Amino acid sequence: MPESAPWWKSAVVYQIYPRSFADTDGDGIGDLEGIRRHLDHLQWLGVDAIWISPFFRSPMADFGYDVADYCDVDPIFGTLDDFGRLVHEAHERDLRVLIDWVPNHTSDQHPWFVESRSSRDNPKRDWYIWVDGSPDTPPDNWKAAFSAGAPAWTWDERTCQWYLHLFLAQQPDLNWRNPEVVAAMHDTLRFWLDRGVDGFRMDVVHALVKREGFPDVDNPWLSTDRFDEPAVHERIRGFRTLLDGYPGDRVSVGEVFILSTARVAEYYGNNDELHLAFNFPPLFAPWEAAKWRKRVDRVVEEFDPRGAWPTWVLSNHDNPRHRTRYGGSEARARAAAVLLLTLRGTPFLYQGEELGLTDAEVPPERQVDPGGRDGCRAPIPWDASPLHGWPGDPWLPWPPEPDTRNAEVERDDAGSVLHLYRRLLAARRNSPALRLGDWAPLPSPDGVLAYQRVLEDDRRVVIVNFTDDSHPLDVAGDCAVEVASDGVGEGEPYSGTVDGNQAVVLRRS
Ligand code: NOJ
Repeated sequence: MPESAPWWKSAVVYQIYPRSFADTDGDGIGDLEGIRRHLDHLQWLGVDAIWISPFFRSPMADFGYDVADYCDVDPIFGTLDDFGRLVHEAHERDLRVLIDWVPNHTSDQHPWFVESRSSRDNPKRDWYIWVDGSPDTPPDNWKAAFSAGAPAWTWDERTCQWYLHLFLAQQPDLNWRNPEVVAAMHDTLRFWLDRGVDGFRMDVVHALVKREGFPDVDNPWLSTDRFDEPAVHERIRGFRTLLDGYPGDRVSVGEVFILSTARVAEYYGNNDELHLAFNFPPLFAPWEAAKWRKRVDRVVEEFDPRGAWPTWVLSNHDNPRHRTRYGGSEARARAAAVLLLTLRGTPFLYQGEELGLTDAEVPPERQVDPGGRDGCRAPIPWDASPLHGWPGDPWLPWPPEPDTRNAEVERDDAGSVLHLYRRLLAARRNSPALRLGDWAPLPSPDGVLAYQRVLEDDRRVVIVNFTDDSHPLDVAGDCAVEVASDGVGEGEPYSGTVDGNQAVVLRRS
């Protein structure tokens, strides 16, 4: 692949969950100004782009994934001017900015829905999904996410119809069969593109158009039988045309929450749908070499023939952090970082994983998320002071060991997890093979995953030992250790052995 590939193929994207990143006004909730003030840190770390989870006006029933105005900043997070400053200063540092577009549903406080629910003959009635029925029998067996088994339909007493919400009742689904909705939502994309954003993460984008007749399905939470997929693909092609009409390789990253890599691959279309799609089966894989090998093979089989470029995610704001999932061991978290940053594709880091954070334990009286996701959303500790660089108590408790697992202490410690991420990011930056090269597995003992990345004469070998035992591994050829998850042997010739829970990047001469 040529070095002229679009920026997002060789980029590493850093996800910011703005409520928990950095606060500047003392309300305990992070803000856009907090992000701006930490851009130097992100530049020092070496990421290429940030994706900011929703900061739009919202009643916060789903902490911003319930949008009441797509074209304004919620006062909790700041103003449109703050956003403008943030984009400008990010671009000055060569950091791209992606924002989170939530097209499937709005807030029930969005003026569109307020109008829509006001009467059956309101011009916006058909902007949402309303169906007749009897008040005690929902139209089908679909269930709402994060709602303790409640139906995906809510009966509206005033107008005597059901409205659909795949998530909370406060998140009514838009009717993407209505061309006025399509046009209005395209306008929201243009609004931000005109303000210089480099792309969008698109929330539950595979679900936009529902099956005619709303049939009962086998899996009422997850089934894609609820959706009219040909129509969804058509809408996504519309987004692609819109984005490609702007200069500068604006990118779409779809949250395609389908746990089949083959199905996810379809959302790249014929290079005319999503530029990138999240593929979550690896995120849900246990920390076992054989399982990971299978997940990687599936990506190669399904993505390569289409020319689809993979993405890799270990953690995000919806799931326990990977260090927590993998049992809490720092050594494993380090080895996982090597894997994440050396597979073929675009890696997405979730704020705080570079500090080796685990989930906060959130006592019942402080739990706020209806989906039980508070633990991974704990605030970022910036230093070892009592408030860890926050001006007041944050909205959620701290993650474990904030006195040592914080940005300042780890910056001063060359052996920290933070420095490992920085070394890996630098290694990627310096290696065309790691950024854009081919991927091929190498023979390896059980419990070890070994592969090489090659682009022309640039070659890297990566060995990830998922087990506690040392393993000899003959990779043939002279190799030097470029990065080791535990720092051992860096800069030295490869000894032919990987220690337990160690992962290494070797440079081949
Ligand atoms: C996926 C988002 O990642 C999640 O946080 C949100 O709750 C749902 N979509 C609904 O928007």
